[in-house]
Amino acid sequence: MANTVVVGAMWGDESKGKLIDFLAHDKHVVVRWGGGSNAGHTVVVDDQEYKLHLIPAGILHPETLCVVADGVVLDPASFVGEIEHLQGRGVSCENLKVSGNAHVVLPYHRLLDELEEKRKGGRALGTTGRGIGPAYQDKAARIGIRVREFVDPAQFSDRLAEVLDYKNELLTKVYGVPALRADEMLEQLSPHADKLRPYVDDTALRVAYAAKSGKNVLFEGAQATLLDIDLGTYPYVTSSHPSAGGACIGTGLGPTQIDQIIAVSKSYSTRVGAGAFPTEQANEIGDRIRERGLEYGTTTGRPRRCGWLDGVALRYSALVNGLTDLYLGHMDVLCGFDEVKFATAYTLDGHTITDFPSDQARLCRCRPVYQTLPGWAEDVSGIREYGQLPGNARRFVETVEAHVGVPITTVSVGRRRDQTIFREA
Ligand code: IMP
Repeated sequence: MANTVVVGAMWGDESKGKLIDFLAHDKHVVVRWGGGSNAGHTVVVDDQEYKLHLIPAGILHPETLCVVADGVVLDPASFVGEIEHLQGRGVSCENLKVSGNAHVVLPYHRLLDELEEKRKGGRALGTTGRGIGPAYQDKAARIGIRVREFVDPAQFSDRLAEVLDYKNELLTKVYGVPALRADEMLEQLSPHADKLRPYVDDTALRVAYAAKSGKNVLFEGAQATLLDIDLGTYPYVTSSHPSAGGACIGTGLGPTQIDQIIAVSKSYSTRVGAGAFPTEQANEIGDRIRERGLEYGTTTGRPRRCGWLDGVALRYSALVNGLTDLYLGHMDVLCGFDEVKFATAYTLDGHTITDFPSDQARLCRCRPVYQTLPGWAEDVSGIREYGQLPGNARRFVETVEAHVGVPITTVSVGRRRDQTIFREA
């Protein structure tokens, strides 16, 4: 398969980083297409843990070209900090390119994210506070500042003066906080601009030429399908397009050039931030999953809400992403439950439904209908062949596969690269 897209199947934190790192070894190019430093990908290689937010997980393969594409909103401080951290650990960033068309996340975006969440009070979205929504807002309103403008001191100074004029009106008159000063911001940001400049490139052309010349390109999704601004559980979503179609928007890849779309799911469900979550277990089952699965945010450290695997949501994800493969992870976390549950339908206002309602009002009223399966007591983390998994673990995998209608081609039994089982489709 030449061009592969990896997406999160549900509400994120599915450990996409592990699969991306794994797939990257025979890819020429790895492209991150959207989101910003709200994402957190943890990759474990030889017991070394790498936490990445903006830089594609392909960076751990020195020969792979890593692209931060046009659709990303890039926080310069976070990006430069990540490069320095990786270099300090001996990881080369020479093959890293950033699109000049990506938008920058500036201090007023973070501030507005925080102020807007406060203003919403009980209706807050539970954002990561990284300024993502406000940065995409500016992009759509055509007042955003792009990376290429940011790294040009004269252009940046002009654009900042223009935008800050408007932002300060908003900050002082709507939110009642002090205005921000352009000179302070320029001073604070110019060292980051200097460090970012050498990485800036016309990445859409690079990606398009790579795909045209038969090179293998891997598209690295951040966040996940149910957080997509259109297809997700709006308004409790992020502001970008983490579903598979997003891989084409602003990266330089045409839709006809995608060969494989893999969604990464856990063997249970999690969600951070607010919003409906039908299979949530706000009880000792959820607590046990959280502790065993280390379900705390990579970016914010927040405890994640945990629950049983939601087959209704997963089937929706398979449909809207056009999945070719499903990766089922965290099988080791479910060990030791007497029984495990898998939602195959919902009841909504007295009716049974099997299609996922992506609007919040109906989703909030949905109650899961579970299929209960026998659990498995054995520790599966050392197993490397599908046939060696306990019978009940295989039954779980095959039940999910039959329900979703997409082959589960990979099963993960631990955080390390080698704790992965490949299945014949
Ligand atoms: P934002 O992307 O920071 O604006 O947050 C919007 C919603 O998306 C919140 O519910 C966040 O918790 C969620 N979110 C954003 N990024 C991630 C992620 O990488 N994993 C899981 N949830 C995320």
